Amino acid sequence: MGTQGSDEQGRGTRRRVLLGAAVLGAGGAALGLPGTAAAAERHGGGYKSLPVPTIIGHRGASGYRPEHTLGAYQLALDMGAHVIEQDLVPTKDGHLVCRHENDITGTTDVADRPEFAGRKTTKSVDGASFTGWFTEDFTLAELKTLRAKERIPGNRPHNTLYDGRWDVPTFEEVLRWAERESRKRGKEVWLHVETKHPTYFRGLGLGLEERLAKLLRKYGKHKKNSPVFLQSFEPSSIQRLNKLVGNPLVVLLSSANSRPWDFVQAGDPRTVADLVKPEGLKWIASYAQGLGPTLDLIIPKDASGKLTKPTTLVKDAHAAGLILHPYTMRNENTFLPADFRKGTDPNAYGDVFGAFQVYFETGIDGVFTDNPDTGLLAREDFVNG
Ligand code: G3P
Ligand code: CA
Repeated sequence: MGTQGSDEQGRGTRRRVLLGAAVLGAGGAALGLPGTAAAAERHGGGYKSLPVPTIIGHRGASGYRPEHTLGAYQLALDMGAHVIEQDLVPTKDGHLVCRHENDITGTTDVADRPEFAGRKTTKSVDGASFTGWFTEDFTLAELKTLRAKERIPGNRPHNTLYDGRWDVPTFEEVLRWAERESRKRGKEVWLHVETKHPTYFRGLGLGLEERLAKLLRKYGKHKKNSPVFLQSFEPSSIQRLNKLVGNPLVVLLSSANSRPWDFVQAGDPRTVADLVKPEGLKWIASYAQGLGPTLDLIIPKDASGKLTKPTTLVKDAHAAGLILHPYTMRNENTFLPADFRKGTDPNAYGDVFGAFQVYFETGIDGVFTDNPDTGLLAREDFVNG
């Protein structure tokens, strides 16, 4: 898929979508009123028809349910999230499953399963060492015997109520779920799908992109206007996908001093700081439609964790024709900028509405959040305020 239209066209579209959404409020899409952004969204108008700022359920509604389960995805959708995120890793027999990483020690009951005790091992993944159990050592049939559990029970003890309730979903199950929900709602269900560790898995003979493209084609979700974003921290994964499918593509960006793992492997010296310069953005815009930067690239924090002045990234990315979906907003104090924390309990909710407002004011096009309901209310405040 080529680059999106000119910046002026892009800004115009965003303004029209924002105005439509502002008139209707967050419920507009659900009401399905004609002649609006909601109608365009219902009829497959592509990513430019999504409400802006777009609220993306990060790993589902992972603030309330164990992440990357059908329960977490369903709750995000029921809350009204505009887009639901999946991270993908492969099994030993090449099936794509939804996990944030291939190390499933922290998000499944694998450590309590004596039949898999011998699979515990230590691996180097993207230059870091991990000891545990890994998806690429399990067939899908074996993986399907495991049960998902809460990743951060210390921060989110209530979510452990749901430990064991759901299994690890395949991406194909998610595509079928999205189809069912789309039919039921008369409205497209949008997904935001990330390839995890693509260079690492290609080295194991488990290339992700061809498998993902095949599934998208099988379900007719491989086109320019299909309701599926594809994202990766490795630009070469996005370039590969650009040759395979027409979906809107998003390059994820970690901290300014980091280097994408495929750059490290290929000896490309560029850092994220290089990629967010106008020349880097122009290069990304030659094969992708958006950026998924860490929020710190939008507004850096000082040594005490408080927000400082916004960078020029939003302006520069828009000038290059790229949209921005930064990550990740979470309601708990411990994950918020220091100036938006309330009280001394790190796991209590802080002034997340205040933080959303400041980030929305920078002009971002959407945001990943573990708490889609909070994000939608904050968005309403922003577009109506
Ligand atoms: O993909 C957007 C955001 O999810 C990136 O961070 O580590 O949660 O996948 P991560
Ligand atoms: Ca992700």
